[in-house]
Amino acid sequence: MTDWKTPEQIARMARAGSILASCREALKTYIRPGVSTLEIDGFVEKFLAERGATPEQKGYRGYPYATCASVNDVACHGMPSRDRLRDGDIVTVDMVVNRDGWLADSAWTFAAGSVSASSLRLMRTAKRCLYAGIAQAVPGSRIGDIAHAIQRVASAKGYAVLSDFTGHGIGSSIHEWPPVRHTGKPGKGIRLEEGMVITIEPILTAGKPKVKIESDGWTARAVDGKRSAQYEHTVAITRDGPLILTALTPRLYS
Ligand code: MF3
Ligand code: CO
Repeated sequence: MTDWKTPEQIARMARAGSILASCREALKTYIRPGVSTLEIDGFVEKFLAERGATPEQKGYRGYPYATCASVNDVACHGMPSRDRLRDGDIVTVDMVVNRDGWLADSAWTFAAGSVSASSLRLMRTAKRCLYAGIAQAVPGSRIGDIAHAIQRVASAKGYAVLSDFTGHGIGSSIHEWPPVRHTGKPGKGIRLEEGMVITIEPILTAGKPKVKIESDGWTARAVDGKRSAQYEHTVAITRDGPLILTALTPRLYS
């Protein structure tokens, strides 16, 4: 089966993931008020090229950019633009890095300047949801266990999780089996097995979990105009526990 990866393949994905993680670190200082998401996109593409990697999203189903850049009420798949970030904006940058044919996928919400307490709380909770989901990414547990863990953390803080967008298996192509739902019931769904590599990428919103795709065919904007935040890692299912591949070095999560 193509869905299970050998330790060697996982190590290759971790090399892509390491480049991605160092790019994410660089973005923490690069992203500030006055920078445009198109400039962020250019920064990422150059950063990757200098490290022998390419942005897999570019050209994927006709998508023209290296990153998705989703500002404020854009939930995901925002297109980079010349619009400059303003103080208090939040932006989710999502990228898939290809290094020698193996991929790693991660998204992160960044603050431009000083953001409101409510945005910080949304961001913090979205990050906690990601790690609550990752903690369930072990052999024998089910996709529903990941989803349930995410939803518990979100609802405890009064946020909703979008069900229109899922994580996915990943390897030498972006979207592989299985789909990884972020909403669902514990004990239900596909059973995780050692060697699977998946993304977990819940989107939390302060409002209603309903988006509309704009006329560009990509931008998913909240119908009620409320902000959302999203954190995503690529994770390998191993007998030792969840192995985060989109870290500077592969990191066993416990
Ligand atoms: N990074 C996206 C994801 O998490 C993958 C592709 S979006 C696209 O699924 F814009 F590039 F198509
Ligand atoms: Co992604």
